Amino acid sequence: MIAGMQQVNVGIVGLGNVGSGTLTLLAENAAQIALKLGFPLRVTAVCSRSVEAKKLPEGLGPVHRTTDWREIVSHPEVDIVAELVGGTSVAAEIINGAIEHKKSVVTANKELMASCGSEIWDRAIRAGINLAMEASVAGGIPIHAVLREGISGDRVVALYGILNGTSNYILTEMEKRGAPLDEVLAEAHRLGYAEADPSADIDGFDARSKLAILAALAFGEKITPSDIFVEGIRRISPMDFQYAHKLGHTIRLICAARQTSDGLILSVRPALIGLETIIAGVQGAYNAVWVKGRYGQDTFYYGRGAGPLPTGVAVVSDLMRVAREIRYGHPERVSPFAHERLGEYKPRSVTSEKCAYYLRFRVDDRPGIIAALAGILAEQHISLEAVLQLPSETKSSLPFVITVEPTCEHTIREAVQKMSHLDFLREPPLALPMEPPL
Ligand code: HSE
Repeated sequence: MIAGMQQVNVGIVGLGNVGSGTLTLLAENAAQIALKLGFPLRVTAVCSRSVEAKKLPEGLGPVHRTTDWREIVSHPEVDIVAELVGGTSVAAEIINGAIEHKKSVVTANKELMASCGSEIWDRAIRAGINLAMEASVAGGIPIHAVLREGISGDRVVALYGILNGTSNYILTEMEKRGAPLDEVLAEAHRLGYAEADPSADIDGFDARSKLAILAALAFGEKITPSDIFVEGIRRISPMDFQYAHKLGHTIRLICAARQTSDGLILSVRPALIGLETIIAGVQGAYNAVWVKGRYGQDTFYYGRGAGPLPTGVAVVSDLMRVAREIRYGHPERVSPFAHERLGEYKPRSVTSEKCAYYLRFRVDDRPGIIAALAGILAEQHISLEAVLQLPSETKSSLPFVITVEPTCEHTIREAVQKMSHLDFLREPPLALPMEPPL
């Protein structure tokens, strides 16, 4: 340790899953952290609604406890504020309060960074403080550092990710043991992966916020999450995995950002991907990011996407990065958001994408079903690839699958729309892209 180098003090707001994991690491790993930094990182104050009832890990030393975040952001001894409350309204006040008091900020807040990260960064730069947000995307994977430092000399052409641990856990448990969605979602809650609002995980919104942040960092565009096409995993059932396997595929919720000559195409959606692809091997609550660079080509990053300790590692590593700058001096800063173009960026519509599709039907069996469906596909000039029906004991709500050759998504949507009126269908057809360009 450098003799006499003064400690850097941290104030933590929010003692939920991520806050507790962060405190555990700061207590248990304090000696290693101090050796790596050359000075200690100390928790000076913590804030939570139920702070008095919280048991803090041993070894932190005296810690001021408060239920008022304003005390943390204005505390004269706090150098860095860790905002770990999540959500957008109070979290924004906490971050802005810290910036006003010229305190650097570490945040795990994906919604806030996705919706107004660029504005917050501009404010932080004007105030001359640092903002770090590694924990906001794929907790256990240091993907911000990769995009901002590790491969910043490259030019990203595509980025694919599995960015929601809960939905990946659900899909892979469905795949392994045929478990229904609700049962596995409840397990993900117990394991601390799932969002309080299940829709954020299941309907793809959590993954969409993360894709908006990564795409902004990778492509230098200011991306608005609501402009990203999103479709969740609600309609996927264990039976879809049986069909996908027959076709040599599996199903994952794929976040994709691809540069084309007409602009970026961004989407979060379940897709059939070849069993031999590296991303098909991502199981359970793990996340992965696959980046394709024009020069460096493919790199792949894999790790836990959630959980108190993996996300805690991201927060603590950010605290260390910011603390180093505080003690050793910081470089001029450039916002990681929208460095390429100013203003909002409208991605190109996914409907112009062309790929093969998996169409899954549930029908009340009777003669003429395939003829009716094939008739609609023929009207739309869509060419069939395969028709697949696994043995089933029932004649009602009978599943079967048609795969079609590469077709524009808008044509598929028109066909699905026409099919929805057929009276033998028990539910609207499920259309999933197959082998999207990875
Ligand atoms: N609910 C999120 C997930 C937690 O399952 O990935 C991490 O953002």
